[in-house]
Amino acid sequence: MTNNKRDGFGSRFGALVALAGAAIGLGNLWRFPYLVGNNGGGAFIIIYLAFVILLLLPVMYAEFVIGRRSQSNVFGAIKKLAPKSVFISIGILSIAVTLTILSFYSVVGGWTIEYIVQSFSSDLFKQDNGALGATFSNFISAPVRPAVMHLVFLGLTALIVAGGIKDGIEKYTKFLTPMLFVIIVILLVRSITLPGAEEGLRFLFYPDFSKLKASSFLDALGQGFFSLSLGMGCIITYASYVNKRENIRKMSLTTVVADTLFAVLAGIAIMPAVFAFGVSPTSGPSLVFITLPQIFAQLPFGQMFSLLFFIVLFVAAITSSISMLEIVVAYICEEFKLSRKAAVLYSSVFVAFTGILCSLSEGAFSSFRLFDKNLFDLFDYASNNIMLPLGGLLVVLFVGWKLKRKDVLDEMTSGGTIPMNRAIFGSVMIILKFIAPLAISIVMLNGIGLIKIF
Ligand code: TRP
Repeated sequence: MTNNKRDGFGSRFGALVALAGAAIGLGNLWRFPYLVGNNGGGAFIIIYLAFVILLLLPVMYAEFVIGRRSQSNVFGAIKKLAPKSVFISIGILSIAVTLTILSFYSVVGGWTIEYIVQSFSSDLFKQDNGALGATFSNFISAPVRPAVMHLVFLGLTALIVAGGIKDGIEKYTKFLTPMLFVIIVILLVRSITLPGAEEGLRFLFYPDFSKLKASSFLDALGQGFFSLSLGMGCIITYASYVNKRENIRKMSLTTVVADTLFAVLAGIAIMPAVFAFGVSPTSGPSLVFITLPQIFAQLPFGQMFSLLFFIVLFVAAITSSISMLEIVVAYICEEFKLSRKAAVLYSSVFVAFTGILCSLSEGAFSSFRLFDKNLFDLFDYASNNIMLPLGGLLVVLFVGWKLKRKDVLDEMTSGGTIPMNRAIFGSVMIILKFIAPLAISIVMLNGIGLIKIF
């Protein structure tokens, strides 16, 4: 970059909507409600909240400290704060994982555009469940149309990111993120007023501890990382654009609350409707692209609700995908001294190709399987359950052990201007140094079956 004044968020609200937009995504809409229901409802929510408050909020503080202190992209940040340390792997891992997740995310983003288009045609609503399943699998396994939709989605993402932070990301998330909450509340009201909705609420909230499994803990942790966009440099990158005077503890908390609230709202908007129509709950693509359309087909004014739902899905996806592209663009701009436009061009051309490969993995290349999973599922599993916790582990070790304690305190108190209770700071440091690394390692190794503790 030639100008030495770095772009940044223009206002506190702008930073918050961008952060919340990055956190709220497909993870909240299609994975959280299902994980909750299948792991003992309220029992899972308790574990999830415990992880979020005791572990993930401190991890978010740590990412904020790295990003805002360095005012750099994820790779440059570590280079600045700890030149030549092994922690530079955080930078490399972040860029690699981001590019891979974005490839899939953009393909799914393309599917949401297709279903927005489909919501305008009444054909979708004449079909029964079997036909809807076939419609979906025919669409995603086709060679051309889903790839084109992926390119449209990626193109929109690139256009927003090319505008920069203040005039791109902030400008769009300012209305997109609030819109998410407005629409989800409309859908929620429809859902809980359906006859038979209580069954869905029970599925979500009734705590059944006997349904907790060993994998529930890894599921909760992995979901927390993914949903809060942690462990991959996203918060580091956005935090680097946050004004030095802002209170980063408050910002972290607001982001966490917004994301968790949205996940619960999404659960209440989806599950009661699923149970009211007597269909069985699923997760992931089949929940949103097959099960829900089946419900919209039977619901009065279903076409309108379908349109609203797929708009939510699209908006949630794009406010997340721009955060992923920004991680890579900031890195290319700053480390290779290229203009933002060039960086956007190179990174999106790369993702255009890898995304097309992912799209084809649902059809032409579907026989390619590793560890008994197709590329899509393999990637979903590996990123949530291994790469993001691993990235998070490195981040907490870095802030807990490598950075100077007084520098961490300085950043968390915005240069001493916003006092922090000493006992709370002490506890956060103990979590970052000992508890988080241990807990993340145990849950990760236990969940993937390398050790057997619970
Ligand atoms: N949090 C988003 C979701 O729930 C996904 C996401 C956006 C993400 N940016 C990220 C995940 C960075 C990991 C890292 O869908």
